[in-house]
Amino acid sequence: MTMITLMGGRSFKLLLLHAFLLILLSAHLSPALGFISGVGVGDANNIRCIEGERQALLEFKKGLVDDYGRLSSWQSGDENKNCCNWEGVRCSNLTGHVLELHLSAYPNDGVGRIKSFRGMISSSLLELPYLTFLDLSGNDFNQSYIPKFIGSLSNLKHLDLTYANLSGPIPHHLQNLSHLQLLYLGWNHWKNIENLEWLSHLSSIEDLDLSFTNLSVANDWLEVVSRLPKLKSLILQFCDLSPMSLSSFPRFNDSKSFASLKSLYLPENQLVHIPKSIGNICTLRELTLWSNHLNGQLVELITNLSGCAKDSLEILELSYNQITGSLPNFATFPSLKEIDLSMNKLNGTLPKSIENLYKLEALSVSSNFLVGVISESLFSNLSKLRYLHLSNNSLSLEFSFDWVPPFQLNEIQLTSCNLGPRFPNWILTQRNVSFLEISNINISDTIPAEWLADLPPTLKILDLSNNHIYGRLPNVSTKGLNDLSKIDWSANSLEGPLPHFPTNLTFLNLSKNQFLGSISSLCKINGQLLAYLDLSNNRLSGRLPNCFMQWPKLVVLNLAGNHFFGEVPSSLGSLSMLNSLSLNNNNFSGNLPSSLRNCSSLIVMDMRNNRFSGNVPAWIGERLPSLIFLSLRSNMFNGSLPLHLCWLKDLQILDLSLNEISGTIPQCLNNFTAMAQKINYIVEELIPPLYDGGIMQIVWDSVMVELKRNEYEYHGTNLGLLKIINLSSNKLIGKLPSEIFSLLDLISLNVSRNNLIGEIPQMIGQLKQLESLDLSSNQFSGEIPSSISEMSFLEFLDLSYNNLSGKIPSGTQLQGFDASYFVGNRALCGLPLIQKCPGEETPSRSEATTKDNEENEDELRQWFFVGTGCGFAIGFWGVCSSLVLKRSWRHAYFLLLDNMKDWIYVTITVNIARLQRKIQRQG
Ligand SMILES: *[C@@H]1O[C@H](CO)[C@@H](O)[C@H](O)[C@H]1NC(C)=O
Ligand SMILES: *[C@@H]1O[C@H](CO)[C@@H](O)[C@H](O)[C@H]1NC(C)=O
Ligand SMILES: *[C@@H]1O[C@H](CO)[C@@H](O)[C@H](O)[C@H]1NC(C)=O
Ligand SMILES: *[C@@H]1O[C@H](CO)[C@@H](O)[C@H](O)[C@H]1NC(C)=O
Ligand SMILES: *[C@@H]1O[C@H](CO)[C@@H](O)[C@H](O)[C@H]1NC(C)=O
Ligand SMILES: *[C@@H]1O[C@H](CO)[C@@H](O)[C@H](O)[C@H]1NC(C)=O
Ligand SMILES: *[C@@H]1O[C@H](CO)[C@@H](O)[C@H](O)[C@H]1NC(C)=O
Repeated sequence: MTMITLMGGRSFKLLLLHAFLLILLSAHLSPALGFISGVGVGDANNIRCIEGERQALLEFKKGLVDDYGRLSSWQSGDENKNCCNWEGVRCSNLTGHVLELHLSAYPNDGVGRIKSFRGMISSSLLELPYLTFLDLSGNDFNQSYIPKFIGSLSNLKHLDLTYANLSGPIPHHLQNLSHLQLLYLGWNHWKNIENLEWLSHLSSIEDLDLSFTNLSVANDWLEVVSRLPKLKSLILQFCDLSPMSLSSFPRFNDSKSFASLKSLYLPENQLVHIPKSIGNICTLRELTLWSNHLNGQLVELITNLSGCAKDSLEILELSYNQITGSLPNFATFPSLKEIDLSMNKLNGTLPKSIENLYKLEALSVSSNFLVGVISESLFSNLSKLRYLHLSNNSLSLEFSFDWVPPFQLNEIQLTSCNLGPRFPNWILTQRNVSFLEISNINISDTIPAEWLADLPPTLKILDLSNNHIYGRLPNVSTKGLNDLSKIDWSANSLEGPLPHFPTNLTFLNLSKNQFLGSISSLCKINGQLLAYLDLSNNRLSGRLPNCFMQWPKLVVLNLAGNHFFGEVPSSLGSLSMLNSLSLNNNNFSGNLPSSLRNCSSLIVMDMRNNRFSGNVPAWIGERLPSLIFLSLRSNMFNGSLPLHLCWLKDLQILDLSLNEISGTIPQCLNNFTAMAQKINYIVEELIPPLYDGGIMQIVWDSVMVELKRNEYEYHGTNLGLLKIINLSSNKLIGKLPSEIFSLLDLISLNVSRNNLIGEIPQMIGQLKQLESLDLSSNQFSGEIPSSISEMSFLEFLDLSYNNLSGKIPSGTQLQGFDASYFVGNRALCGLPLIQKCPGEETPSRSEATTKDNEENEDELRQWFFVGTGCGFAIGFWGVCSSLVLKRSWRHAYFLLLDNMKDWIYVTITVNIARLQRKIQRQG
């Protein structure tokens, strides 16, 4: 899986998998398949259930651990005698026999909390001889095997065991299910799948999903599935299908193979080309191959579809591959409704042939290398277009100002296209739009006020960031915008006071504008859904309102770079999910409120450049155990350092510089274990990402770190590399505790401008990763330890203004540093100082002494930005979300906010309309 290699982190993988599954499962939900909510149909009251079957159900319940009490209606008492009324049970309204069991962990409508059962599948199901429908998807059967008796439920038509934590071989006993029409076994832990012979007996199968099953050694899989006469939909996602395993594909071009196949879904395999025989599947309507290894010219790739399939093909989904070349003449595919070629390497222009695809509903070519000017004529026949994704190419859309498009789009993704300079008027005509992403499209205009006052009620995401939109904003209408969850207007030139916003927002980013005044009006965002609030770098001012308790799900709060003043309100302490708190660069004062101790999920706490005072609170160490980044730089903290700070074993960046902290440096610093060892995690593992409509970019504001006297903005995912202690410019006394030298992975240590004494111990040479060491302006004495020459990455060293003596160790890179970094030590001699050591000749300054500072900086930058490989906007924990979340998944809206263990609080809204279309296609 591309996404997974990109993301790394193991737990994150799981999370993604789970999140993804959820979507997958919800995509399986279908009214047409008779998904039933709980109790039976309306007239079920009149049906009496059969006593034997009732007992069997009770027995079945005994096998389950029902953590959510979902089966509370399954009782033996008299009042619950009629099992046809029980949750998930559906009986025949004629005979009273139990026909269907709907016990999926996933909510019926895709909205709500996952409620899985645990336990085992009891054989009492055998007492339900008329059972036709069994859905146990999403439950946790503890990696047990599929019980063999399932093969004896001979009336089954529908068996869904997707993501049920089952394992082992798939029992060949399933072959007896001769009526089976739908079989979903995907996303379990099947082992030893050597053949699928059993499957060849299931001649009624129409829908088959074996995703996440390693089929690489099941040599017969293709032979078997291609001979299933009624198979309409085949889903083999992430099944290790390689070109090799498909090598027999060309043999299948007789009319008996895939005789009914409409939908072939093979994403996340290792296919490098489209097998030719796919083109001979005359019934094929949907071909989905995202995230394979398809490469070469698109025009050549699709020649293999030039059999009869080209006439029937409606959906061609080839995104996330390495396809090159230009777009083909689409006239060959007259039935196309959806084209997804995003995330490839296509170049050239959009072909004119698109004009005639009058059935086209989705055109997605985002993130390629397409160029050119698109005029409105391209769209004049495309009245059915719903999804237009052209983001991240070099495309210009030049439409006449009063063009009224023939379509009503649901999704408009035009990020980084050129549509400016005026606000594109045609967008105002789109009244069904849910995703409107027109970031960085060169608008230099105001937002039409009448549009803001009457936004389409379908809107979920409104991203106008990175333009030059100016002017004061009127209030965004708050009526009827219940779905609007993300507003990103960052990096524009908006001004004036903050307008009112809809109350259900999840994500609000207004950073880098010129908003001014108080933020009290934001307290009206009270849907309790707000997770991300970034108001940084505006001209906001005043005291913070004390209304943070109404945003209990806030994960990121960034108020940096404004003119806020006064004390931090205590209600910030109710943000127990907060991962990142940035209040830096304001005028906050007073003590840090002790209620902040309740923000126990904090990972980043940035309080730099304010006027906070008082002691460095001990609770930071005691109560914020997840902190990785702690900066109290440039405030007025005083008193001595609390020992509790040492409890922060995950801490990687500690910046307490420019305060009035006194006392000694605690010896327990060696407790910062994250600084002592290489750590390989990336932040994704720690923090559940925040999804929004499947495309929310988790752009955490970058972290600023001070290194080598410069401030660097750190984006990127490999935060694991940054280990920094900065205690500079305080009133610290005593010696450098030797424990600090066990922080072997430290890359920068700055204790300059204090009153530290003692010798610099030889042990300092242990800090082999150190790039920057600043001990200047203290009272260190003795000689410079020769071990410093072992620090081969050292690029910056300042020992000036101490009481050091003796010869600067020679023959090392020390001679390469500027002499000014050694001055102010009366008794120091030798290169690069001019002062010669006793018995030496006057040294001539070598040419290569001063390092070019700029060069340094460049190096550093390169180093810092290693790993920001995702290509476009990367956040602090760097989710390239569109890499992660496929378009096809985006029809779900979901939100993960809980922590890893209990993250399963998810909201999904399935795009029912689209699903239904899909079902009609399959039906
Ligand atoms: C039984 O249910 C089916 C559909 O669920 C309905 O069409 C039929 O009329 C019902 N029969 C009786 C006798 O209620
Ligand atoms: C899960 O399986 C293990 C052994 O495979 C067993 O020890 C454990 O009790 C099972 N847990 C449940 C909840 O059934
Ligand atoms: C699946 O079962 C295994 C074995 O009992 C357990 O460790 C694991 O947590 C379960 N996974 C899920 C996702 O429920
Ligand atoms: C499957 O059916 C065959 C006969 O067709 C029978 O012999 C066998 O026992 C059945 N297996 C199961 C698991 O029911
Ligand atoms: C497209 O890219 C290919 C290389 O993949 C190159 O040979 C060709 O000239 C490019 N075409 C255009 C129109 O840029
Ligand atoms: C949004 O807010 C409205 C009331 O303002 C409420 O009825 C609706 O359920 C909310 N939507 C969500 C997704 O919470
Ligand atoms: C080191 O940290 C742990 C908690 O992470 C704490 O219990 C222990 O007291 C600390 N040790 C010292 C010497 O502070």
